[in-house]
Amino acid sequence: MSEETLSNLLKEERRFEPPAEIAADANLKAEAYDRAKADREGFWAEQAERLDWAQKWDRVLDWDDPPFAKWFVGGKLNAAYNCVDRHVEAGRGDKVALHWVGEPEGDSRDITYAQLQDEVSQAANALTELGVATGDRVAIYLPMIPEAVVTMLACARIGAPHTVVFGGFSSEALASRLVDCQAKVIVTSDGGYRRGSAAALKPAVDEAREKAAAHGHTVDKVLVVRRTGQDVAWDEAVDVWWHDVVDAASTEHTPEAFDAEHPLYVMYTSGTTGKPKGILHTTGGYLVGTSYTHWAVFDLKPDTDVYWCSADIGWVTGHSYMVYGPLANGATQVMYEGTPDSPERGRWWKIIQDYKVTIFYTAPTAIRSFMKQGREIPDRFDMSSLRILGSVGEPINPEAYVWYRHVIGGDRTPVVDTWWQTETGAIMISPLPGVTAGKPGSAMTAIPGVSAEVVDNDGKAVPNGSGGYLVLTEPWPSMLRTIWGDDERFKDTYWSRFREHGFYFAGDGAKKDEDGDIWVLGRVDDVMNVSGHRLSTTEIESALVSHPKVAEAAVVGAKDEDTGQAVCAFVILREEAGDGGEDIVSELRTHVRKEIGPIATPRQIMIVPELPKTRSGKIMRRLLKDVAEHREVGDVTTLADSSVMDLISKGLSSPT
Ligand code: WTA
Repeated sequence: MSEETLSNLLKEERRFEPPAEIAADANLKAEAYDRAKADREGFWAEQAERLDWAQKWDRVLDWDDPPFAKWFVGGKLNAAYNCVDRHVEAGRGDKVALHWVGEPEGDSRDITYAQLQDEVSQAANALTELGVATGDRVAIYLPMIPEAVVTMLACARIGAPHTVVFGGFSSEALASRLVDCQAKVIVTSDGGYRRGSAAALKPAVDEAREKAAAHGHTVDKVLVVRRTGQDVAWDEAVDVWWHDVVDAASTEHTPEAFDAEHPLYVMYTSGTTGKPKGILHTTGGYLVGTSYTHWAVFDLKPDTDVYWCSADIGWVTGHSYMVYGPLANGATQVMYEGTPDSPERGRWWKIIQDYKVTIFYTAPTAIRSFMKQGREIPDRFDMSSLRILGSVGEPINPEAYVWYRHVIGGDRTPVVDTWWQTETGAIMISPLPGVTAGKPGSAMTAIPGVSAEVVDNDGKAVPNGSGGYLVLTEPWPSMLRTIWGDDERFKDTYWSRFREHGFYFAGDGAKKDEDGDIWVLGRVDDVMNVSGHRLSTTEIESALVSHPKVAEAAVVGAKDEDTGQAVCAFVILREEAGDGGEDIVSELRTHVRKEIGPIATPRQIMIVPELPKTRSGKIMRRLLKDVAEHREVGDVTTLADSSVMDLISKGLSSPT
């Protein structure tokens, strides 16, 4: 990799020291790094004490048959008991667990830990009555309503692994997951509220059930929550209403303690190609990892903080940082059903103001879209309660980081840029808010207990100032245990690239700056090679976004006869920039050249009204690459809005 290229992102020289009051009272202090390094297993055993174990483990880690790990061997616990009952038993039953906010204004509900205990117990009893036994899989296809959390915990309580399928996924995607994990029961609703109207969910379930049947898999029962009241087709033999069976069930339920390695859930990753991978997480290690990281990285003070993670429950972030981590820690949190622009663009900021949210966790794609709308919107709200901001899902451009800290966080709040994956279960690389002087755009260092490295092709650690592949060099408690039903694919996908070293290969490229801090560059397939120089899409995107007229940018490497690959950029302008003026393209090319260097100058810049994104907000560069390489645009079925590609193609008919 070219040293010149590598040094460019590292020109970022802004630093944000931790605020004195957070540093003074931080949950995790700097000494934890050394303590964890000196005795990693001992450190994790200490973290495991955060939970209530029905039976303590005899061995912290069994790594005798890598890459198949067992953590807290011999230990027994119940995840739902740890997330709910134990807080009630400790006298905190009246504490609010969820401030649930529906999309229609005024439609909200506060649920205490004691109420949650009753509802989870009822749902556990109802699922058992419907024939769900320990080990059976339950699919959950629900909007962001309290029943989604209740169902996940009810499954955990009876030891039935859940698989949550994002409510925005098609019946096709749902069917393939039902078949892959052989789900016995589906929990869904008539619909949910999105952008001011009721969007149906049940018809997709009906279709998915038929499609699964065509593949020889029968779903026994569908449990339906009434949310919107819209009409639904009803199959008497299969469909049952939540309010009939759950509300009628007993609130008494004794949780059984399961083995630490009992499967907790399967989460399918949004893989761009091929069959989705069912990532398996188990009970003890996962709960240790999520509760520890939620406490350490967000510096959670359960008695005073109000925490809000804006992720949907259909993604791993919703699992680890809306359900298991925060609830295991007895946090009070906000859960919001709808979209950020309903009924108006300030809805998120109004929620922060109304509930006095102190910790807020969201994704760079959301931050960039708010930047595009301008600061006047958030400026209308009082967000002085905020003390820590988090980011997850993709590299955060330094400009977006600084805007987030400045406009949303009033320049007080540390921003924790958290790197992790569905597979890692919990945050692996992140600043600690009371310890780290944050650099905008850098996830900084592996948190205490985690060992990350940036290595070259041969698995050798690269020197500071260089780039390579991001790997995790030691097992960690919340690691995926396998791909559901496919041990071979598990070994091939994650452990074969650096087999001799025993490293977990995350699939991301990264670089270490002169201080050894880590800058995640994105998936290695997003890294391009121009004239033998390796360039990061993210790096160029960040340069473009730092231009005052640019709201959002996506960069791809397109085949080029001269240079191997060439940089092609798709750019959305800020509203106030209008059409950008007639010299906008050359202005932006000059800007990138100035920011990064001539090698990064885009061959082509296309001003577009929208970018193609998956429903989880990831830009689908594969489709943009098709446009840039003048191919027919490929499969668009995983796009959140499939008309976007038409808009882009139309906008491109004029030459740039
Ligand atoms: C990317 C989401 C840079 C990365 C929790 C990873 C990030 C993939 C960051 C996992 C970050 C996530 N900085 N890149 N802070 N967080 N990523 O499985 O490419 O949906 O491999 O998990 O998102 O996405 P996943």
